[in-house]
Amino acid sequence: MTKFTVNGNPVHYKMPPETPLLWALRDASNLTGTKFGCGAGLCGACTVHVDGKPQRSCQVAIGTIEGSFVTTIEGLSDDRSHPVQQAWIAEQVPQCGYCQSGMIMAVAALLKENHRPSDADIDAAITNICRCGTYPRIRKAIHRAAQGHVDSGVPSPETTLAEAARIAPTLKSR
Ligand code: FES
Ligand code: FES
Repeated sequence: MTKFTVNGNPVHYKMPPETPLLWALRDASNLTGTKFGCGAGLCGACTVHVDGKPQRSCQVAIGTIEGSFVTTIEGLSDDRSHPVQQAWIAEQVPQCGYCQSGMIMAVAALLKENHRPSDADIDAAITNICRCGTYPRIRKAIHRAAQGHVDSGVPSPETTLAEAARIAPTLKSR
């Protein structure tokens, strides 16, 4: 039995110690936000944090992380309010979405270490693959998150009221 903490919850896995973390998370914990892509450590779709570091969970045997703290995309924030998630929404990054939870986890780890990464830093750190080619939007979203531009694109209540007041005469005249 292997014990570690997932998204703040202690978990005992009754799986063989060589089981990849990816399958423990998906099959035993039903945390299906972490995706299977290549199974060979190449694509990054399975990226989670182990003790705060990005790890390709298809390559991590659960027996090697006894006592560790694992965070998946489901645990990054309770309400999708993490700055990287907000930047992703604002820049409308995803296309099919399959690679995106791994991308977001990799980027969240990068920004924890490097608050203002250059393009070269991003290229060196984010080696995840996106078959839809969302790389330009990913880069924009990383810079947005780094600058603290976490506007979700949803109008504030003040904006909504001002807009309602502006169009009210138009509506009344119909
Ligand atoms: S599924 Fe783990 S790196 Fe591709
Ligand atoms: S959004 Fe489709 S693979 Fe990245």
